[in-house]
This record gives sequence, structure tokens and C-alpha cells, in this order.
Amino acid sequence: MAQHDVEKQIAELRQQIEKYNYEYYVLDKPSISDAEYDELMRKLMELEEQYPKYKTPDSPSQRVGGAPLEAFAKVLHRVPMLSLSNAFHEGDLRDFDRRVRQEVGDVRYVCELKIDGLAVSLRYENGYFVQGATRGDGTTGEDITENLKTIRSLPLRLRKQVSIEVRGEAYMPRKSFEKLNEKRKMNGEELFANPRNAAAGSLRQLDPKVVASRQLDIFVYHVVNAEELGFVSHSESLNYLDELGFKTNPARQVCETIDDVLSYIEQWHERRASLPYDIDGIVIKVDAFAQQKQLGATAKSPRWAIAYKFPAEEVVTQLVDIELSVGRTGVVTPTAILQPVRVAGTIVQRASLHNEDYIREKDIRLGDYVVIKKAGDIIPEVVRSLPERRTGQEKPFDMPTHCPACASELVRLDDEVALRCVNPQCPAQIREGLTHFVSRQAMNIDGLGEKVIAQLFEHGLVRSVADLYTLTKDKLVALERMGEKSATNLLQAIETSKQNSLERLLFGLGIRHVGAKAAKTLAEHFETMERLQQATKEELTAIHEIGEKMADSIVTYFSKEEVKQLLERLRAYGVNMTYKGAKRTADISSTFAGKTFVLTGTLQSMSRSEAKEKIEALGGKVTGSVSKKTDVVVVGEDAGSKLEKAKQLGITIWDEARFLQEIQQ
Ligand code: IVH
Repeated sequence: MAQHDVEKQIAELRQQIEKYNYEYYVLDKPSISDAEYDELMRKLMELEEQYPKYKTPDSPSQRVGGAPLEAFAKVLHRVPMLSLSNAFHEGDLRDFDRRVRQEVGDVRYVCELKIDGLAVSLRYENGYFVQGATRGDGTTGEDITENLKTIRSLPLRLRKQVSIEVRGEAYMPRKSFEKLNEKRKMNGEELFANPRNAAAGSLRQLDPKVVASRQLDIFVYHVVNAEELGFVSHSESLNYLDELGFKTNPARQVCETIDDVLSYIEQWHERRASLPYDIDGIVIKVDAFAQQKQLGATAKSPRWAIAYKFPAEEVVTQLVDIELSVGRTGVVTPTAILQPVRVAGTIVQRASLHNEDYIREKDIRLGDYVVIKKAGDIIPEVVRSLPERRTGQEKPFDMPTHCPACASELVRLDDEVALRCVNPQCPAQIREGLTHFVSRQAMNIDGLGEKVIAQLFEHGLVRSVADLYTLTKDKLVALERMGEKSATNLLQAIETSKQNSLERLLFGLGIRHVGAKAAKTLAEHFETMERLQQATKEELTAIHEIGEKMADSIVTYFSKEEVKQLLERLRAYGVNMTYKGAKRTADISSTFAGKTFVLTGTLQSMSRSEAKEKIEALGGKVTGSVSKKTDVVVVGEDAGSKLEKAKQLGITIWDEARFLQEIQQ
């Protein structure tokens, strides 16, 4: 095919794909089948593979995710990303309305759904998406451009050649969330508590391909430079976002009075459960920019907007049974088994009852009707019982005196409310300990879900974490539902875990009071297991983050004979016991490390060769011309064609001030 034809065909394919993308992901009105769409994408990718010189960062093929990153670069928000002050009751909203009217007189509000996701900022230059960032601390966020590109409803190129910065909420639709958790359950991976956490976890992935598989979405709700673009009101700027091809939320409504605002809230409170995504409230914004300016902002939030938060949803259901589980540390926890009921978007069948005292204080009985809510909208708990609905059949619950797993007598330590099993051989504790050891933050061994662990335990193959390193393929394939492939993968994951840095092993051992963060501190400080094993209480408490209680627990742990033996075995199997972590300075230089820079124009504060030296000292590379491989173009005065080229390719551009700021960090 002639070059010219190839270029034309690529351009046409891109245009078609983006059109179908828009219909499907923004308008929710697809006009072709998934198979037809996939076919177009396949063709485009094939051509781009064959003729790489026509690849561009705004091609829809980029949405499948590029190469993994080492770390996220920092992004300084040109305008800080503020949060909103909250309202919980009607009175708070009436107060807000009074304050606003006192200051600016008559006012119109725009009401919007408060999407429960993550705030992101998106920058477009001449219509091209050039940078996307997380909120971070509001001043500095992280550069997640490559991850955001995988969101199909986010336009890579706008319908007009404008330079615009917008803000919005990246979120995971409920359906994607359910699918993701189902998959994770099958793989024995930790489940995400809710779509918001899943979205946050996804955007934090360094591998954009993983992000692409997570099916995130985005609503855009704010234009940072709206006035510069000639708009006088928020509602006007939202309509403009639609024209540019962004996905805005259609539920927005202009309200003239606070009573209208209140009925909007009531209406969406009721319809909330029927939405395909989670919302946690309603945002109310003053519409006119002139009035917004007059009202101004505090250091934390604008005075022209407020977020009304929905109360945690409470529902009534019946308590069918109380189940007791023994945790890793021997604590026996009662869990309510409920008649399944929908709370805040998910079906709940189990809820926490905390401990024996809680059950007694609330007079919760077997067979009772109980009120359930999700604490922080995440963990279901029983709030209270409804004695007025009792029939006389309900039975008070007594905590057992003996461990439900190993029958040894339960004890109450010191002044704890919890009952504990103190038998170190208790099978429930050992199983929980194994689950903890292989978990993501600990040794990160994929493929060892609770079911497999239970099987390994029942077959007597694994009694202690060290036994994991004695597993063989023959032993594994003998287990039910364990195929050749899964066995090979699992063995590989176990083998790989031997190379983990010390802090993972330390956390995985489950020493009381030593969480993931403390494990990292200890590993950084002592560098080897031997040194930590010999540490005295004084040496431990001398470390800023380590308190008396933790120090005692560590010393006691390492003095035990069975711990010494366990560590000996792990060492013999080749499990690493040294700290390999990155130096503390690593994430600072990561803005430069491994990246390719191009310098253009005249810098005021230093010569080009000085700038080059600085970049190289921070691990970056400087080249002479702009190409797709360039990560950042640093632009001085009178920059010419290189700047144009960078804009065309959608490459990150820094002015001198930004460059100085980055090298000083
Ligand atoms: S406006 C200055 N609009 O809620 C503009 N925020 O508690 C501030 N959010 O950080 C944001 N939906 O993450 C706005 N329609 C909406 C929103 C929304 C969700 C989030 C956003 C913000 C937080 C404030």
C-alpha cells in the first residue's frame, strides 16, 4: 500500500473508532456491535504495528495501555485542587444559602451528583490530552496520564483545538466492580471493599495494561480556566464540556431556591440505588462566576459550593445465626449471619458484632430483627436490635468458653474485651496466619486463596509457613480442583517470594503490633533478620516510630525457641532475610530517572549544558530532537519548531519555572 494511503486509512480508522467510542462510552448509545468495533481496533493496531512512524499518543490504540512505569512523577497543580465543606442536615444547607445570599444577593445554584470516586485533573493543549494527575495533597499530585488514557470516555483529542484544564471524578461502575471482585475471589486475591477503593487501587497501578482491564469511567465537572475561555457561569461551562466531547453527568440541575435544592436531594436520595455507579451525596454550586469570585475560598474549600452527604443507609433484616471465627492472633469474633439484604449497593449476609460486650449491651438475640448499616459505607455492622418486633422465640446468645476450632479454654487478656484462644497449635490460627503470610502486602504469593490453604492444611501438607517452601508439583496436583497449570504457577509464585525484601517477610510473620509500616521501618533500620533478632528493647524504642508495646512484642517474639527454628528453616529454604528496598531518595529522582528530555529555547537561569548536567545527575537523558520517545520538553524563551512538534505529539511541556521546581525537589 502506498504510504499516503496507509496514513489516510489510519486516520479514518481512528476517526471511526473514536466516534464509536463516544457513542458507546459517553452517550451510552452504541451503533455497532462489539465484534465490529473490535475488528476496527484490530485493523488499526495492525497498521500501527506495521508502520510505527504513524503511531501518535492520541490514537485510540493507546487506550489498551502502554509500557509499565517505574514510579509516578509529581505534578504541581497550577490551581490547587480544593475539597468541599460538608453538610449533613437540612439546617446546614439553609445556613449555607443564608450566608451566600447575604454576600451576593439573589443566586442560582447548580446541583450535581457527588460521584464516589477519585478527583483527577486533566490538561489539554490545543485540543490534545497532555497530562492527567491525581489530587494528591491538593497542591501536588501524581502524573497518571498513561492510566487515564485507558478510560474510554476520556477524550484523547477534543472537538476543538482549545487549551483547557478540567477536573472530574474517575470511578468504577458497579458492574465492573462486581466483575473484578469475582475474578479476584477466584484467584484468591484480596477483595476491594467498594468501587471507590477499587478505582483508587486501579489508578495507582504502575502498569497501564492492568488499568485498562479495570474498566474505569469518568465524569468531568469543572473547568479550571473557564473565565479565560469566556464563560460567565458554571452551567455554561458544563455545556461547553459536552460540546468538546467530555462525559458530563446528565443529572445536573439549576435550582433557583434552597427548597428546590432540597427536593433535588430528596429525589436523588431515593433514586441513588438505581444508578449504575455509586454516589455519596449532592454537590451544590453557585452558578455565576462573578458571584463565586465574590464569595472566594478558605485555604481548604471554596465558599461558593457545599457537599451534602447522604446519611449512611440503614436497613432492617433478621439475625439468623451468630458465627464465631478465630483470627490469626486467636481473638474470637462473633459475626451476625443475616437474611440477605441490600445495603448501600451490595447484598449483605454477614455483619460484624464486634465482641461479647457489644452483643450484651445492645441486647442482640438470635432471631431478632436488627438494623444494619455500613460503617464508613464499607463494613456492614449491626447497629441495634428491634425488641418491639420480638415474638418470644428469640434466644439470648452466650459466648462459648472454649475455642470453636480447637476446644482449648478461651481467656480474656488483661483488660481486653476480646476473648482469645491462646493455643499456638490452634488450626484456625495457623490457617489465618498462612493466609496473612501469603497476602499481597506480605509475601505476595498469588494463587493461595483461603480454599487452597484450607486444603493444604487438611491434607497435612502445610502446618507452618515454612512448609510452603517444601511443596512440590506432585503434592499440589493431588489436591481437588488443582490443575497442572495452577500448580506450576503457584510453585513459581512461591519460588519468587524467596527474593522478597525483608519487610515483607517481617510483616508476614505476624508479630503482634507489627504492621506493614512498622515492618518497613524495622527492615530499613536493621537491614538483616539477624540484627533484628538480636535487637534489645532499648535499641528498638530508640527508633522514632517504635513504641514500648511494639518493642516488647518484638523481643518476646524473637526469644521463642519455635520462632528461632522457623527462621532457621526459612533460611535453609533460601528465603531472603535482608532489606533490599529502595533508598529513601528514590521517589524524588523518579521524575527524571529513565526519562528522555529535550531542551529548547533559551533558559534564563542556566546554560543548556548546565541544564543537561542537572537532568543527567538526576538519572534522566537529554536528546537533541523531539520524537514519540521524548518524555518531557523543557521550553525556554523563543522556542521554535521543537515546541510545536511536542504539542503535536502531546508530550509533556515544562516551562523554566516548572523545570527549576522539579530539579530542586
Ligand atoms: S466540585 C472546587 N463536583 O467531591 C471544585 N466535586 O468533597 C471542587 N466530587 O474532591 C469539586 N462529584 O472528588 C465537585 N460533581 C462534583 C463532584 C465532586 C464528586 C468529589 C471531588 C471532590 C470531593 C469534595
